[in-house]
Amino acid sequence: MRKTTLITGGAGYIGSHTVVRLVEAGHRVLVLDNLSNSCVESIARLEQLTRSQIEFIEGDIRDPLLLDEIFSAYAIDAVVHFAGLKAVAQSVRKPMEYYANNVVGTLFLCQAMARAHVFNLVFSSSATVYGEPARTPIDEALGTGKPANPYGRSKLMTEELLTDLARSDSRWNIALLRYFNPIGAHESGLIGEAPNGVPNNLLPCLTQVAIGRAGELTVYGNDYATVDGTCVRDYIHVSDLAEGHLKALERLHGDHGIHIWNLGTGIGYSVLQIIRGFEDVTGISIPYRFAARREGDIAQCWADASKAGRELGWSAQRNLGQMLTDSWRWQSNNPHGYHAPIAPLLAVAGK
Ligand code: NAD
Ligand code: UD1
Repeated sequence: MRKTTLITGGAGYIGSHTVVRLVEAGHRVLVLDNLSNSCVESIARLEQLTRSQIEFIEGDIRDPLLLDEIFSAYAIDAVVHFAGLKAVAQSVRKPMEYYANNVVGTLFLCQAMARAHVFNLVFSSSATVYGEPARTPIDEALGTGKPANPYGRSKLMTEELLTDLARSDSRWNIALLRYFNPIGAHESGLIGEAPNGVPNNLLPCLTQVAIGRAGELTVYGNDYATVDGTCVRDYIHVSDLAEGHLKALERLHGDHGIHIWNLGTGIGYSVLQIIRGFEDVTGISIPYRFAARREGDIAQCWADASKAGRELGWSAQRNLGQMLTDSWRWQSNNPHGYHAPIAPLLAVAGK
């Protein structure tokens, strides 16, 4: 049986881009997703994009019987684990759902992996585990801080759970990938971020204004001690993240223990710089107004990602212009996300 990589949450934003990259690199993949924040249309788009059949199972990582069936039916040798909930404000209202999905879900997944003697795991963590950083750029040696919300704490708890697991049994090979701010979309315009409900992150909010669904962008705070008073973040193209997962996965085979890698560009941009950059690449003017600071926001952070450079041979390749161009291509081709027929494939030229 051909070796297979199980991708939990592979119908979602970052997972779908990673599926494309793994298939391109010759991996056989199996997607497990409960479609709580995605839809099966994204799998159809993946098939169109990769020109291959994507094996997909609709189901939940908290279903041990299903997991056992999957591990016995496929020759799985590694898991890339994206499945989880990620909306910060919702996590404050529904903390138990976040701990159940993100922490308990990972626990069930690891138990099923151990039963099946599968010990290679790549986990989606977040720069949120650093909390308010004592210094920037942030390197992995800084140590974790105090995340400001249940979502962030669920990521930190899961990192601790996985670290204890790897320390307890040397057969485990685990990568904790700490993403900074993923934006952008596949250059084809076929897959991208399609959040259910009202978006909270900067790029989805900004593109909602650009397509006319919102009148203006609210900029939270202009009195931070930053270049122009607005918050600074390390935005990274989702396809660069996907490449980071491929490199981490390849490194895990034959390795052991727990590894932590920051995935960021090492460059910070302010909210106003993002707005101006978007206007430059699209020619669309973005009306905005300043509002009070958003609770839980930190002034600035960006990554020192040199460890991933040294140990994985990975670095982000795409610049801010590409990130914003690709975000806009996805959004303008798919104004309703996946909930509409594929637009006239405007941007798939050359594919
Ligand atoms: P997403 O919501 O687009 O994808 C997550 C996928 O997991 C969805 O398709 C959802 O349906 C699925 N899912 C959720 N709970 C599940 C469960 N119990 N069983 C099976 N499937 C389940 O999110 P994303 O942006 O692609 O994020 C992927 C991972 O990366 C998440 O763990 C997220 O916390 C983490 N992360 C995301 C960001 C970001 O800004 N997008 C930043 C840092 C870390
Ligand atoms: C947020 C989460 C973080 C999570 C990450 C990815 C918070 C406090 N942090 O990071 O835990 O890992 O998303 O999901 O929610 N902004 C505006 N107007 C908007 C939207 C955002 O000015 O309409 C600003 C924010 O104040 C922030 C910057 O844009 O300064 C980036 O915001 P966002 O995209 O939400 O990411 P983070 O807050 O960095």
